Order: sequence, then C-alpha cells, then structure tokens
Amino acid sequence: MYCRHYGFKEKPFNVTSDPAFFYLSRRHKEAIACMSYGIEQRKGIITVTGEIGTGKTTICRTLLHQLDKSIKTALVLNPYFSELQLLEFIVQDFGIKVKKRTRLSLINELNGFLINESCSGNNAAIIIDEAQNLTVRQLEQIRLLSNLETDKEKLLQIILIGQPELREKLGLRELRQIKQRVMVDYHIEPLDNDEVKDYILHRLSIAGSDRQKPEFTESALREICQFSHGVPRLINLICDRALLLGFIKEKDCISEAIIRDCIKDIRVKQ
Ligand SMILES: Nc1ncnc2c1ncn2[C@@H]1O[C@H](COP(=O)(O)OP(=O)(O)OP(=O)(O)O)[C@@H](O)[C@H]1O
Ligand SMILES: [Mg+2]
Repeated sequence: MYCRHYGFKEKPFNVTSDPAFFYLSRRHKEAIACMSYGIEQRKGIITVTGEIGTGKTTICRTLLHQLDKSIKTALVLNPYFSELQLLEFIVQDFGIKVKKRTRLSLINELNGFLINESCSGNNAAIIIDEAQNLTVRQLEQIRLLSNLETDKEKLLQIILIGQPELREKLGLRELRQIKQRVMVDYHIEPLDNDEVKDYILHRLSIAGSDRQKPEFTESALREICQFSHGVPRLINLICDRALLLGFIKEKDCISEAIIRDCIKDIRVKQ
C-alpha cells in the first residue's frame, strides 16, 4: 500500500524469510560458518539455537543456497510427525525412491543412497528446523541415523536448529547419547544496536527506494533498538507499521514520535 509513496519495488519489512533481503550480521555469519564447517568436515551432529525471531529459519534457507552442489540436502521445516514419518520425509526429500515404507526398508534405502553419494565424492546433510519440537523418540531416531558411517567418515551430517528449549531437551538424561555426539554448537544472539541500524538501512536499500526516503531519524532508530532488543522479527514488525503510519500521515521521515505511536498500538493489541 505504501510502496509507491516511498518508491519501493516491494515491502522492505516482510515477515517471510526471503534470502534476497538477507543481512549478514556477525552472529548470522558465524552460525552459517559453523553449520558449513560441521557439514564439510563431516562432524555428525550440529546444533544451532536462538530465541524466537532471531533468524534461524532465514539462515537455514541462506545455507541451502550457499552449499556446494556436491552436498545433498534434506530440509525438514516442521517436524510435527511420528519418527517413522520423519524418516519417510527425509528419505523423500533426498529424492530416494522407496519400495516399502517400513523402518528397516527406509533405513536400508537411505544407507544405500549415502554410500553411493560418498563413493561419488559427495556428502549429505539433513537440516531440521524447529528442532525443539522433536520428541525424545524422534531424537533417538536421529541419533541412529548419525551412526551411518563408513570406517573413515560420517555419511550423514545432521543440523538441529531451534529455540533454546532444544538445549534443555538435549540435557535430558535419556538423550545424553545424542548430546555427546553434538560436535558443533552455536547460539545466535540478537543484533547489537549498530547492526539494528545497518539491518534497517540494508532492507530499505534492497526494497529499492531510489529517492533516498524514508529517512529514519537517529532517535527513531534508538527507539527501535529498545523495543526490538535486536530481534529481527520485531524490527520488521515495528518498521512495517512505522512506514504505514508515515504514509498515512504523508511523512517522508520516520520520527521517534511515529515509532512511539506504533509501539503503543502494538502493546494495546497484545
Ligand atoms: N539475517 C537476516 N537478514 C534479513 N532478515 C532477517 C535476518 N534474520 C531474520 N530476519 C527476518 O526476521 C524475521 C524472523 O526470522 P526467522 O523466521 O528466520 O526467525 P526464527 O528464529 O526462525 O523464528 P522462530 O523462532 O519463530 O522460528 C523474518 O522476517 C526474517 O526475514
Ligand atoms: Mg523459524
């Protein structure tokens, strides 16, 4: 609605994880580096955690775009199914054709696929987002998959990415075997204040405002830092509203007063 007013090609603060808008903050860069390292060095199980809205799903998508073609991947976005269905989903996502849908047959097919890929010099990785929702039985299934290996190397690298509850879950006594297999572990912290400002400018410039507007004043940016605590989803929420209010009030500049009005509005609705 406000795009034409500001001269944007598209909305700069959408809530989707569009890789075109990806901002490489220090923490996101480190998280992606840890995941790539873990996969390339065949470390087995890798965990990445972060609070709600800090960019976990976004970095999964960015990682998939960046990985070399020789790394075959399966991506599980919502692991809300049984452990057999999880296995079935992974096998399908790798593009493996299965004849029988029993656990034994699925694991045999997966093993055959991984050995073939390894013989061709390839590697394979499963990325599971929202991994804090995995049940103890699913995590046990994942541990068994991480056992697939040759004498020399792990055939399958597994990235578990989720909210901090994932760490707590892996701390359970019955899951200590999987916890011991986690070889790379990273926690994404929110953006710092300088990064929040950079992030906003980055998204505005990708959205393509060629008329150098809207400008966010320094005090508006400070308010956004305080409100969002550096969490990208909250930055998007407040900036999107601020642009809308700026448009309604026919402003070219987003001031502290506009941000405060938006914060009040958000708090009333919560
Ligand atoms: N590095 C980034 N560059 C650009 N946008 C980002 C970045 N990180 C997060 N975002 C944006 O912030 C929002 C939330 O990100 P995302 O959905 O990845 O968070 P999440 O950690 O997966 O959240 P949840 O815990 O709810 O699953 C999205 O709109 C996304 O586009
Ligand atoms: Mg997510």
